[in-house]
Amino acid sequence: MIFEPFKPFLPSEYKVKLATEGWEHAGAAALRRRVFCEEQGLFRGDDRDAIDDVAIPIVAVSLLGVVFDEVVGTVRIHQGEGKVWWGSPLAVAQGHRRLASLGAAMIRLAVAFAHARGARRFLAHVQVQNVPLFERLHWTTLAELELFGRRHHRMEADLTHYPPIVDAEWGVLSLLQKAA
Ligand SMILES: CC(C)(COP(=O)(O)OP(=O)(O)OC[C@H]1O[C@@H](n2cnc3c(N)ncnc32)[C@H](O)[C@@H]1OP(=O)(O)O)[C@@H](O)C(=O)NCCC(=O)NCCS
Repeated sequence: MIFEPFKPFLPSEYKVKLATEGWEHAGAAALRRRVFCEEQGLFRGDDRDAIDDVAIPIVAVSLLGVVFDEVVGTVRIHQGEGKVWWGSPLAVAQGHRRLASLGAAMIRLAVAFAHARGARRFLAHVQVQNVPLFERLHWTTLAELELFGRRHHRMEADLTHYPPIVDAEWGVLSLLQKAA
């Protein structure tokens, strides 16, 4: 008998929010290890650095009905010098990419929350293959440089496109838009 191969389960909704729970922090760290150590090979074993001690993590969590399921996306933000804020490692789990605009939703929440916390500028080092995604979200390139052996752009968000969001711990919903 021949069985039809069945598609993997995909949640229809995700929540993008500040990480407030221990399992969200742990899930974000595990996802970063999967993407930046195993998939991209940028770091050996662990990509944690000193910025993690001060950064505010943001997560994308898949929803099963009204119940949180697992962390499938993450980014972190921190305040640099003065009122300059930075975003760093942005990652979406492999099976959830280009499905629900999770990358874009996390960038929006990250910049809008930093804006609410007083950011006057918001910068990030963006891997070159992701520059078009950021440009579509109103970021411009300030410089090109090599980091961790890869080409990056230092980019800046146009804050006029990111009205402040104060209550980011409640988060925003992101819906599945495309079939796998
Ligand atoms: C980069 C990354 C976070 C994007 O996450 P995502 O959830 O797939 O992104 P989105 O669905 O929000 O993408 C928004 C739009 O940008 C497009 N896009 C996404 N990644 C892109 C890329 N690398 N190049 C060009 N366009 C891209 C998507 O197609 C989508 O456009 P569409 O709606 O017209 O299809 C994800 O691909 C990832 O984790 N990559 C590996 C780690 C990495 O590169 N991190 C970034 C370091 S700067």
